[in-house]
Amino acid sequence: MSTLLEIRNLVKNFPVGEGLFGAKSEIQAVQGVSFAINKGETLGLVGESGCGKTTLGRCLLRLIEPTSGQVFYDGTDVTALTPGDLKAFRRRMQIIFQDPFSSLNPRMTIGKIIEEPLIIHRMHGDAAGRRKRVAELMELVGLNPSTMLRYPHEFSGGQRQRIGIARALAVEPEFLVCDEPVSALDVSIQAQIVNLLMDLQKSLGLTYLFISHDLRVVEHISHRVAVMYLGKVVESASSQSLYSRPQHPYTQALLSAVPNPDPSVKKHRIVLEGDLPSPSAPPTGCHFHPRCFLREERCQKEEPELKSLEADSQHCVSCLVVK
Ligand SMILES: Nc1ncnc2c1ncn2[C@@H]1O[C@H](COP(=O)(O)OP(=O)(O)OP(=O)(O)O)[C@@H](O)[C@H]1O
Ligand SMILES: [Mg+2]
Repeated sequence: MSTLLEIRNLVKNFPVGEGLFGAKSEIQAVQGVSFAINKGETLGLVGESGCGKTTLGRCLLRLIEPTSGQVFYDGTDVTALTPGDLKAFRRRMQIIFQDPFSSLNPRMTIGKIIEEPLIIHRMHGDAAGRRKRVAELMELVGLNPSTMLRYPHEFSGGQRQRIGIARALAVEPEFLVCDEPVSALDVSIQAQIVNLLMDLQKSLGLTYLFISHDLRVVEHISHRVAVMYLGKVVESASSQSLYSRPQHPYTQALLSAVPNPDPSVKKHRIVLEGDLPSPSAPPTGCHFHPRCFLREERCQKEEPELKSLEADSQHCVSCLVVK
């Protein structure tokens, strides 16, 4: 398998006003994240609210500028592209948002919404050619093309997410950042959208970064999963390995909170101490140490690196205690 996207040491800080005595402070939203995604693969990215998932996803597409680090897409450093070259890359990489209502213009018919990127990228010829393409896209995502002239509010949440997917697919991208695409939907509808994304991946050969705060949601769709905590990846592995042998205490705690569908399986729920610290003042040493049930003295001072396990080179953990 070949690599489609690789990020190296990506950092994004947001400056936030001046603190006490004129001290500048900043939110360290993404703190040196590296990973690669192979063609045709789904990488699930999970972590609590505010850990930097959306910021990371937007930096990949350069919808916001990373502070430092590199993003390679199909061998090209996206962070070094000029605005003109970036436009061509934008066509290849698209994003699907969490809230399919606020991300769809309420004054445009859904036909126009799906057509808009075709106009921007001058694809599929004249109005008739574009309309044909819009109908095709609607069918592809399970919408009836006869509803093309209706407005977003006339559709249910799940259907609106299908519209968002059709719009993202209009320009024939290879890579999609799916930012919590099912978090706003009922559980029964979530599965339909996840299944649609999986079918589309197979038929169109798509590659996904699938972001969610819910480990249960990414399990089914992800080939590999990366767990983020306060701007860093603390564990990454194949889904199979991560769900059956979670190594980082944070991943173990997240997984222990996921309800098991089989009531005969008794699970020990790990409750973490304290709250998520502020990303403008992350703890010293290992960022997770104040909440960790395995912490040792050195965890306050030493910062762990993401390293592969001795027993499994594909399974990486950032912890001084777990090896
Ligand atoms: N434009 C911005 N300016 C200042 N701070 C920001 C900005 N965007 C995000 N942040 C901060 O960066 C941190 C990471 O935010 P981000 O939205 O990436 O997290 P997330 O993991 O996507 O969370 P959620 O699950 O709530 O979507 C948060 O502390 C957030 O407040
Ligand atoms: Mg987010």
